[in-house]
Amino acid sequence: MNKLLTTLFALAVASVTGLALAQAPAAAPAASAAAAAPAASAKAAAPAPMGAKSLEAKTAMCFGCHNIKGYQASFPEVHKVPMIAGQSAKYIVSALKAYKAGDRKHPTMRGIATTLSEQDMNDIAAFYEGLGSDGAKLPEAASKSPDPQVAALLQKAACVSCHGSNFSKPIDVYPKIAGQHPDYLFVALKAYKADANRAVGRSNGVMGAIAKQFSNDELKALAKYVGSLDGELKVVPEHRFRH
Ligand code: HEC
Ligand code: HEC
Repeated sequence: MNKLLTTLFALAVASVTGLALAQAPAAAPAASAAAAAPAASAKAAAPAPMGAKSLEAKTAMCFGCHNIKGYQASFPEVHKVPMIAGQSAKYIVSALKAYKAGDRKHPTMRGIATTLSEQDMNDIAAFYEGLGSDGAKLPEAASKSPDPQVAALLQKAACVSCHGSNFSKPIDVYPKIAGQHPDYLFVALKAYKADANRAVGRSNGVMGAIAKQFSNDELKALAKYVGSLDGELKVVPEHRFRH
């Protein structure tokens, strides 16, 4: 957090100085610096409108589950909590909205998403997308070939057409799934089949129609393969980004 504030301060100073220098020939330096100051602080505030402090407060709510390696949830069965660092920000927002609207029925995440405004969701999503990125580029092709059984399942539902050739280049607001915890992928896939249940499951027109074409054994095989691929999703423990 100190680092962020320092950066914002440095940016503000840099733009005041820059504007003052640019305007120096036309006006007295003192007057132009004063005129530039409000513009500079508006600029510095733009990337984090909710304020650095409240972003920290909002994300702090997530760290206890999403930033602990190997952390497990027990509902509706034991599985690892999904990795969200490195996930697409657009998808994170879309998923949070689905919990808030009740289309995703997971009780804990519904309770949490209900407390978030759209602005909170945007800011948190940008934070997590950036947290996973190390600048490395994932090859276009999946890091492993599927066995013939899984290849046939993947083809049947054209998974790559939406999730990308390496399962990490989704279109639109869709998720990256390569390398996600296989036990979570399995739970998520089964959840799309349970769209009529009030307490568990996910109502989603697209994935509902797809998941229902497969038996649970087939979904498990798909989850195992996709989860075994190289991907961009990570668990980043708190001590790695907070000092
Ligand atoms: C008590 C543990 C816990 C906390 C705290 C928590 N989560 Fe979650 N989160 C989960 C679990 C478990 C799931 C999987 C839910 C499901 O099966 O749909 C999940 C799912 C998600 C997903 C969907 C991931 C995907 O791949 O579809 C997002 C996004 C998410 N959480 C964001 C957050 C954010 C942001 C916060 C903090 C504001 C937060 N979570 C706090 C446990 C938690
Ligand atoms: C027509 C586009 C499309 C196709 C084809 C498709 N998906 Fe999806 N997938 C989506 C969308 C959209 C979501 C997000 C749904 C939501 O918001 O819950 C999703 C979500 C998922 C999730 C949940 C990810 C998470 O983090 O919770 C998994 C797992 C998944 N898809 C696997 C697959 C597999 C495996 C196939 C092929 C058998 C497949 N998808 C085919 C669009 C598609």
